[in-house]
Amino acid sequence: MLKHLHMTVAVISILLFTFRFALTLANSNKLSLKWLKIAPHIIDTLLLGLGIALAIKLSINPGEQLWLAEKIFAVFAYIFTGYYTLKLARNRTMQVIGFLGAIGWIMLIVRIAISKETVFLAGL
Ligand code: HEM
Repeated sequence: MLKHLHMTVAVISILLFTFRFALTLANSNKLSLKWLKIAPHIIDTLLLGLGIALAIKLSINPGEQLWLAEKIFAVFAYIFTGYYTLKLARNRTMQVIGFLGAIGWIMLIVRIAISKETVFLAGL
């Protein structure tokens, strides 16, 4: 139940980010819609909160299970790369590069979530 909620919120976060990226490329003024400004903050806070709640419930400690530490790092990197793409990147090329970077982090997150193994911290 908690796990499905967690996965649903993660999918919404990725969809919202992709939607806002598309609006940015299209120079759409929909980007200033109030719900589109507020919803991502709520969703991303929920994403972290639900992930932490799940880890506590299943007694998974990131200090012992390194895959979780790596996943949390990757989630912060995804959120920052998303912020870069939508706010800091000054032109289309930088926005596209930022978007591809964020997709790369998502691929790492999903891989770690499913395999429950470290990728970059492998061997530790
Ligand atoms: C974009 C962000 C995230 C995505 C796409 C994601 C995806 C997933 C998926 C697909 C699963 C189910 C894996 C499976 O059992 O088959 C899962 C489980 C889990 N996730 Fe996440 N997650 C994200 C963020 C987080 C964060 C931020 C945390 C912790 C702070 C977290 C902690 C966990 C835990 C503890 C489980 C349960 C593992 C288990 O069943 O043993 N996740 N996640």
